[in-house]
Amino acid sequence: MSTHHHDVLIIGSGAAGLTTALKLPRHLNICVMSKGSLTAANTFYAQGGVAAVMDATDSMESHVQDTLIAGGGLCHEDAVRFTVESGPQAIRWLQELGVRFSTEEDASGQPEIHLTKEGGHSHRRVVHVADATGLAISEALIENTRKCSNITLLESRVAIDLITNKKLGAQANRVWGAYVLNLKTGHVETHTAPFVMLGTGGASKAYLYTSNPDVATGDGIAMAWRAGCRVANMEFNQFHPTCLYHPNSRSFLITEAVRGEGGILKLPNGERFMHRFDKRAELAPRDIVARAIDHEIKRLGVDCLYLDISHKPADFIKTHFPTVYEKCLSIGIDITRDAIPVVPAAHYTCGGVMTDLKGRTDLEGLYAAGETAFTGLHGANRMASNSLLECLAFATAAAKDIAAKIDNAPKVPQIPNWDESQVTDSDEDVVISHNWSELRHFMWDYVGIVRTNKRLERAKHRIDLLQREIQEYYGNYRVSNDLLELRNLAVIADLIIRCAMLRKESRGLHFTLDYPDLQPQIQDSILTPAAELRA
Ligand code: FAD
Ligand code: SIN
Repeated sequence: MSTHHHDVLIIGSGAAGLTTALKLPRHLNICVMSKGSLTAANTFYAQGGVAAVMDATDSMESHVQDTLIAGGGLCHEDAVRFTVESGPQAIRWLQELGVRFSTEEDASGQPEIHLTKEGGHSHRRVVHVADATGLAISEALIENTRKCSNITLLESRVAIDLITNKKLGAQANRVWGAYVLNLKTGHVETHTAPFVMLGTGGASKAYLYTSNPDVATGDGIAMAWRAGCRVANMEFNQFHPTCLYHPNSRSFLITEAVRGEGGILKLPNGERFMHRFDKRAELAPRDIVARAIDHEIKRLGVDCLYLDISHKPADFIKTHFPTVYEKCLSIGIDITRDAIPVVPAAHYTCGGVMTDLKGRTDLEGLYAAGETAFTGLHGANRMASNSLLECLAFATAAAKDIAAKIDNAPKVPQIPNWDESQVTDSDEDVVISHNWSELRHFMWDYVGIVRTNKRLERAKHRIDLLQREIQEYYGNYRVSNDLLELRNLAVIADLIIRCAMLRKESRGLHFTLDYPDLQPQIQDSILTPAAELRA
C-alpha cells in the first residue's frame, strides 16, 4: 500500500481540474489525476465554443437574460451574473495560455475573434476554434500544466472514495484525500490533502445513448454524496438535439453551431418542422429542440431526422466545421451535399454537488467545479457553451479560496490503508456488464426526454434492486474500474430518479406527461444524504 501527500488533490483533468491547478500558487504541491489519459474528458470533445460577451453590440445583461430564459426560471441569478461577468477575462486567460481562437477580418481588414451563435443566445457570442474548441483548450491547459514543476499529473488513477473525518470516527466533517485505484498496478493507493477539488465531469453515461466519452460516469457526484454532501437538480439531464445517427459511429456530436450558422432541421421527406414548436425554430433552447425531434421521430416511427447545411457554400462549411465534415465524410456522408442523420442523446448533467460561488461544498476542504457541480448557473436547462465558461469561472474562484486558506490548513491525520482483507477476485464479471447495460437501457426508456409517474416508478423499482445487488458485489470482490463506475452510475441513476419524482411539474429539461404545466413555486430539487427536502 502506498500513501502520497499533497497540498491540493485535484481529481479530474478537464477544464475544471486543470484550471484549478494552474490558478493555484506555484509553491504548492499539487496532484491532478485522471481516470484514463489526460485528454479522456468531455472538455477535449467540446465543439461549439465558450460563451462570452466580446462584442461592443452585445452586453453582460443580454447574456444574463438569455441564460435566465434558457434556464426556465430556475437559475440562481448570482451564479449567472458571476459567471457571465468572468467571461471576457477567461477568454483572455485562454489566449495567454496559447489558445488561438478562430478569427475573421473586421471592416478595416484586421483579424478579430469570430463569434458564432447557438440556441438561446440572442447575440453572436460563442468564441471558438473552428468546431474543435475543446481540443484546443485541453491541449493548451495540459501543455501549460506540464511546464509547472509543482504539479504532478497522474493518468489511469480512479478515485474510489473520499477520505473524511467521519470515516475516521471524528466529529466535524472534513475531507482528507481519497482512496485511488492505480490501473497500472492494480493496487489501491492513499492520496492525502487538506484540500480536494472534484473536477470529475458529468454523468451522461447513465443513458444508453450519449455524446459523452466513457469517463462520464458521475464519479465525483457519487463520491461527494457518499461523503455527506447535498446534491441538487439531477432531474435536469440535458439531451443534445443533434448527435450523428449511424451504425458505424457512436457518440459523435453535430455541433449546435451548425444550426447557428444556418443549418436546418428536416423530416425524412425534406420538410422543415421546428417553427411548429417554437418561433426561434432551430435556435430555440436545447430542451425544446430535443423534445421536438423526439416527438417527430416517435410520431413518424422513424429512426432519425436530418440536419441540412448543404445550401451553404462548400468552402464555408469546410472552414467552419472541419471536424464534422471529415467525420461525416469518413462514413460516406458529404455534408456539403447531403443532410446529416441526427438523433438526440444524453449530453450534459445540469445538477450535481451543491457549491457556493467559491466552489465550496458541504464538506470542509472539499470543492467541486465544472460539470460535477451544481452552482445554480444552468437552472432547468443549460444554455449552449455556458459550461466551459462555468468551469473556468468557478475553478478560478475555488483556487483563490484555497490559496487564501492554505497557510492555516490543518494537519492531515494518520489515514488507515485501504482494507482488502475481506474481498476476493470476482469470478462473475458478467454481472457487471449485464447490470451496466440494464441500467443504461431503463434510464433511456423510463427517465429520458419524456417521463411519466409510471415510468419513474418502474425505474425506481429497478434501481433499488440493482443497488442492492451491486452493493453486495462491491462488498465481496476486489475493485475494478468497471465495478467502480457501475457502483457510481447506480447512485447517479437513483439521484436522477429521486429528483425527477420530487418535481411535480414540467420545467426545462424535465418533461412529464402527468404534470405538463409549470408550478407557480420555483424550487430546486435538493437531496441530502439523510433525507430529501425541497428548498
Ligand atoms: P471533464 O472535462 O469531463 O473532465 C472530467 C475529468 O475527471 C476527466 O479527466 C476524467 O478522467 C476525470 N475523472 C472522472 N472520474 C474520475 C475518477 N473517479 N477518478 C479520477 N479521475 C476521474 N460545453 C461548452 O461550453 N461548449 C461546447 O462547445 C461544448 N461542447 C461539447 C461537446 C461534447 C461532445 C460534449 C460531450 C460536451 C460539450 N460541452 C460543451 C460540455 C463541456 O465540454 C463539459 O461540460 C466540460 O468540458 C466539463 O468539464 P469538466 O472539467 O467539468 O469535466
Ligand atoms: C455544441 O457544440 O453543440 C455543444 C455546445 C455545448 O454543449 O455547450
